[in-house]
Amino acid sequence: MHIQTRVGLLLAFAAVLGARPAAAQADSVTPAMIAQGDSIFHSKGNCYACHGTNALGAVGPNLTDSEWIHSDGSYPAIVKQVTTGVPQAESKSGIVMPPKGGADLSDAEVKAVAAYVYSLSHKKPS
Ligand code: HEC
Repeated sequence: MHIQTRVGLLLAFAAVLGARPAAAQADSVTPAMIAQGDSIFHSKGNCYACHGTNALGAVGPNLTDSEWIHSDGSYPAIVKQVTTGVPQAESKSGIVMPPKGGADLSDAEVKAVAAYVYSLSHKKPS
């Protein structure tokens, strides 16, 4: 085997190993994320305005039950939902949800607010 090939293979392995912990972190809900998400839900995220301060539903649906209109209710699905919102064509009620609730949220803030929403119907964070 040429030395270049060996170095290339080593780099490829390092990349795969290095990527793993990051991916695992992105998919796990931590108490710190839930706390941050709680605050975003009730302030800059605007979520409370449509889903109610206790998330029991108002203009937008109840987020505390196990009924999910638009996804399977898993954490990654909620992250995706918050990112895209609900366009007119997909809305059951005819009311749209703007992407990220219409707020200027970073990816980390979207993940945090999704973690909070996830925690409302999944009492044990996992
Ligand atoms: C302008 C009002 C509005 C805002 C602001 C808003 N939503 Fe929504 N949201 C809705 C509506 C309306 C729906 C469902 C539309 C339908 O009837 O299908 C929805 C749906 C959802 C769903 C899917 C529920 C399901 O059962 O599948 C989630 C999750 C959600 N919103 C989370 C959030 C979060 C988190 C925020 C804040 C970042 C937010 N929403 C901000 C109006 C809003």
